[in-house]
Amino acid sequence: MLDKQTINKLLEAATSVMSNAHVPYSNFQVGASILYKDGTIEVGCNIENASFGATICAERTAISTGAAKGKLNIEAICVTNLTDTMVTPCGICRQVIWEFGQNLPVICSNKNGDYKILTISELLPHAFDLN
Ligand code: THU
Repeated sequence: MLDKQTINKLLEAATSVMSNAHVPYSNFQVGASILYKDGTIEVGCNIENASFGATICAERTAISTGAAKGKLNIEAICVTNLTDTMVTPCGICRQVIWEFGQNLPVICSNKNGDYKILTISELLPHAFDLN
């Protein structure tokens, strides 16, 4: 359940992983956390590359970390950054998040801990679907 205590845990987890971001090109640290239906949390940060297109966003790093442990049952996703803007996932990440649940809540936060919650379908209407 996405109560205030759970949201705070997700915000804390996303914030704490941000310092691990590998961002020599943008210097824009992003942290993400994922709550799974079993109550566990995984985290991810962005990992940039000299071949810019090879950069992986924090959200997809977190999803990949969970997936490698057999965890795909996502309950909610949280993303934060060090600016005043409540960061929202990029287009590629929206499509990847949508894969795991069309009504998933995405907590979009800033450096002050302010947040807004949008569902992934609000963020990505008319997502690509093979079906
Ligand atoms: N980035 C993320 O990690 N997640 C987002 O939701 C937006 C963008 C990263 C990619 C790149 O390393 C940096 O932010 C600047 O675009």
